[in-house]
Amino acid sequence: MSLTKLVFSTALAAMVGMASAVEFTPEENLFLGMKIYERAAGRGCGTCHDVRPFPDLTQSIKKLSKEEFINVVKNGRPGTVMVAMAPQIMEIGLVKNACMTEEQALNALYAYLQAVAEGKGKAQKPASLDAKIKACGK
Ligand code: HEC
Repeated sequence: MSLTKLVFSTALAAMVGMASAVEFTPEENLFLGMKIYERAAGRGCGTCHDVRPFPDLTQSIKKLSKEEFINVVKNGRPGTVMVAMAPQIMEIGLVKNACMTEEQALNALYAYLQAVAEGKGKAQKPASLDAKIKACGK
């Protein structure tokens, strides 16, 4: 390989690396998912879902497939007060600050609710997350 080609391909690899999203550890995901649950639509999903007769999401998560569950969060349930939540999730400060993609935010939310359904308690903020937020630079 010529030097020019080598320099070019290295630069290209670096650019591709920069364009790809930050990866989150399972611990970071749990914390991010918890914050999304608490902050979506201003006062969080719990404004409705922690109150009966609204669906208890720790039950819904066992009943629906992951795809179905995420589809409701993304698109809402037409004709009900369950509106599309993804745009509101993407407005959360922490989601922006961590440079999360919509897919990552929805996966983190799902992972958190799955943990809650399995009886796992509150997530602590992993120290590693601050460095990622800083690196994101928003
Ligand atoms: C304004 C109240 C409200 C808020 C806020 C809200 N939801 Fe809902 N959600 C509902 C209602 C009501 C339903 C049931 C709709 C129906 O009749 O099918 C529902 C249904 C769902 C379902 C399907 C449940 C099932 O068992 O079929 C999921 C999943 C869901 N919501 C997730 C979320 C998530 C995640 C958030 C936060 C990002 C959220 N919701 C915020 C009111 C709300």
